[in-house]
Amino acid sequence: MLNGKTIILGVTGGIAAYKACELVSRLKKLNADVRVVMTKEATKLIGPITLRTLSGNPVVTDLFTDEPADLPVPHIALAQKADLIIIAPCTANIIGKLAGGIADDALTTIVMASPAKKLIAPAMNCEMWRNPVVQDNIAKLGVRSFEFVGPEEGMLACGVEDIGKMSKPRAIVKAAIKLLGENKETLTPDLHGQKVLITAGGTREAIDPIRFIGNRSSGKMGYALAAAARRRGADVTLVSGPTQAAAPEGVTVISVEDAKGMREAVLANRPGQNIIIMAAAVADYRPTITFWQKLKKENEVFELELSRTVDILAELGRTKNGTCLVGFAAETNDHIENARAKLSEKNLDLIVVNDASAIEQDSSEIKLIDKHGNVEEYPMQAKPQSANIILDKIISLIPRSPDPRLS
Ligand SMILES: Cc1cc2nc3c(=O)[nH]c(=O)nc-3n(C[C@H](O)[C@H](O)[C@H](O)COP(=O)(O)O)c2cc1C
Repeated sequence: MLNGKTIILGVTGGIAAYKACELVSRLKKLNADVRVVMTKEATKLIGPITLRTLSGNPVVTDLFTDEPADLPVPHIALAQKADLIIIAPCTANIIGKLAGGIADDALTTIVMASPAKKLIAPAMNCEMWRNPVVQDNIAKLGVRSFEFVGPEEGMLACGVEDIGKMSKPRAIVKAAIKLLGENKETLTPDLHGQKVLITAGGTREAIDPIRFIGNRSSGKMGYALAAAARRRGADVTLVSGPTQAAAPEGVTVISVEDAKGMREAVLANRPGQNIIIMAAAVADYRPTITFWQKLKKENEVFELELSRTVDILAELGRTKNGTCLVGFAAETNDHIENARAKLSEKNLDLIVVNDASAIEQDSSEIKLIDKHGNVEEYPMQAKPQSANIILDKIISLIPRSPDPRLS
């Protein structure tokens, strides 16, 4: 199945390094040419000779060496030769180095020099995994097209049952096969020819010239969706409320401030869209009156009257006309029940449910409910990873004519 494919397996200094043996065996059984590159710390946890024997190839542990002797500038030759780089287990340290552009050992230098797809299988203590620095680095790598598998929940080496366990070698091989299959789609992306409109971020409803009613939405999910849809070949328009997120390359970004602006931009850009994904957290209420001058501190109690904003998602659902319409639900309780009600009330094709606590975070635990009533649950993962899962699901729901370039 992996005939003719060269896979670099980066092994780093995590306790799961021993599982690299099973991974090498599984890849070899599928006829891949496996080249193992180990960090110095990894060699303290598992011997290179084991991996050399299992892979049948010299193991690279050092940048400044003549080995492997069959390659003139070993790290560059390997980087160019690879069809895929898997790093399993991948430490918090290597994730940080890759996100920060550091290339100070054989593995990070090879990754930096390689145009191959990269698949990361993180493994670490749960608190390390939750550390915002690690999550920030993962989000950065996601935007740069690194793919992730895991980590999973389970019994960790430190003796607690929590997230941080490396995915099973079988699952990593499955993800690798899928990614290698998708190499073909780099030339023929699966959203080619699709127009996708995505909303992201929160809205700000002005009280006076300097105050507003807002929400905590960071826009990370919507921006990750826009970046992923673009990478998969879609023509993407992103209508965004105020956010710190960086505009994805190749995406048309329309900035809006409030729910009214969001509605106007969505309706103006709606014609011709095949898919509309409403990931923005749009205000349900706005101040009935916006004061044009700054309000002064006068009375002890200040009452502010609020009026309903127009429900953009419901409006789109009433006049869908063949567009695949996707909504989001951030719930604090009765997630599935509430999301099902929203799906049917708003005539959606798909609803993505997550816990309200995922707002502002880099990772989320999503559930997908489609118009046929199917429910799919996914473990905690980085938002760029969730974005691809959501797009996979959307693709399965839209009627498509075959891409002529695939025949
Ligand atoms: C026994 C042991 C197990 C470790 N397991 C992990 C791990 O699972 N994940 C991780 O990120 N770091 C782990 N560390 C810490 C890393 O080894 C350390 O951050 C090291 O600098 C990583 O080097 P590398 O990323 O270059 O391989 C472990 C350290 C020891 C001593």
